[in-house]
Amino acid sequence: MSSPAPPRRVLSGMRPTGRLHLGNYHGALRNWVELQYQYECFFMVADWHMLTTGYDDTTQLQEHVRDVLIDWLAAGLNPGVATLFIQSHVPEHAELHLLLSMITPLGWLERVPSYKDQQEQLKEKDLATYGFLGYPLLQSADILVYRAAYVPVGEDQVAHVELTREAARRFNHIYGREADFEAKAEKAVKSLGGRNATNYRALRRKFQETGDAEALERARALVHSNSRITVADRERLLGFLEGTGVTILPEPQVLLTATPKVPGLDGRKMSKSYGNTIGLREDPDEVVKKLRTMTTDPARVRRTDPGDPEKCPVWDLHKIYSDEATRKWASEGCRSASIGCLECKQPVIDRIVEEIGGMRRRAQEFEDNPETVRNIVAEGAEKARTAARETLDEVRRSMHLRAD
Ligand code: TRP
Ligand code: SF4
Repeated sequence: MSSPAPPRRVLSGMRPTGRLHLGNYHGALRNWVELQYQYECFFMVADWHMLTTGYDDTTQLQEHVRDVLIDWLAAGLNPGVATLFIQSHVPEHAELHLLLSMITPLGWLERVPSYKDQQEQLKEKDLATYGFLGYPLLQSADILVYRAAYVPVGEDQVAHVELTREAARRFNHIYGREADFEAKAEKAVKSLGGRNATNYRALRRKFQETGDAEALERARALVHSNSRITVADRERLLGFLEGTGVTILPEPQVLLTATPKVPGLDGRKMSKSYGNTIGLREDPDEVVKKLRTMTTDPARVRRTDPGDPEKCPVWDLHKIYSDEATRKWASEGCRSASIGCLECKQPVIDRIVEEIGGMRRRAQEFEDNPETVRNIVAEGAEKARTAARETLDEVRRSMHLRAD
């Protein structure tokens, strides 16, 4: 059996929706840039996921994948430390998805909240497809194929990680048995020594027959306190208590991203579908124009009307971009009508133009050197495949899909 994955592996993905905006940046990307220096990170462009809702027109898919990659690089994802790749370059995702589909009850997928929500929201599309129903399980495969410990996502994706945990648990329950697990476990029990072995057996029986949680806890403590047994035997004894076997696909955990609210130009959440975005490499003059006309507190009709920052989307931008002194100046100036909205917006405009300027420069370098981007993606695919193959080898073996 190959060694388990490094304990602190992270995987996340993004659909190739085309050029990214400040909502994508503050909602995910900025966090990924930090995570890449703390964990072993895999970040993928989820092009197959795009097909689950956008199967009818794929003509722009390549371009959108490239745009997302370049935006990632411009935002500071570093291919020297993180693995950046494209989902469809790693066919192991599809294989694991197929295998998981065999053991996943339909009800699990029908109950995922996004299933009905999205069908409602995207009424103009026929989403009564097999692929759309199964896409959260494809996401499970994305995660499990790397045996990732953590998945940084926002609230809206938590249910998908929960499904992933259930799928992993079910897989391990069905296939996670060494051929001679019981025999090995029994032997490990004996190695605990006379009294301890007797106690272990009694506690295990009690837990399995009555579900007594205290018995389980006491048995675990007994195993942990025994310093003479091997690590492998300890894991067998712990698994044996609950009737489970070896863990082939570990259950991942959500790394909930604490994200600021990023308002769009009309005050609603910034989103491509609302057409209210500021792009990461938009022309600075355009950005200035957009921000100058951005919605503010509707109560401030005239310059002399006092306003309430809490009712103003520009205030949400101050929370992201301004230091405390500037925020104080804006808030007090607004409430007392001593500053106008344009004045109030200026520090935010300056900061955003500066931020976007840096991204534009970096993006341009990659635009000018398509070979560099191709190499990054090829290398990413190679690294991702090596990790994915290891998992699939073990998965196939545990399912007796091959002889060795
Ligand atoms: N479903 C995610 C989204 O729509 C993208 C995604 C695909 C993903 N595979 C993933 C996120 C795996 C985290 C882990 O935003
Ligand atoms: Fe919004 Fe600033 Fe205008 Fe107040 S002064 S309404 S916070 S833009």
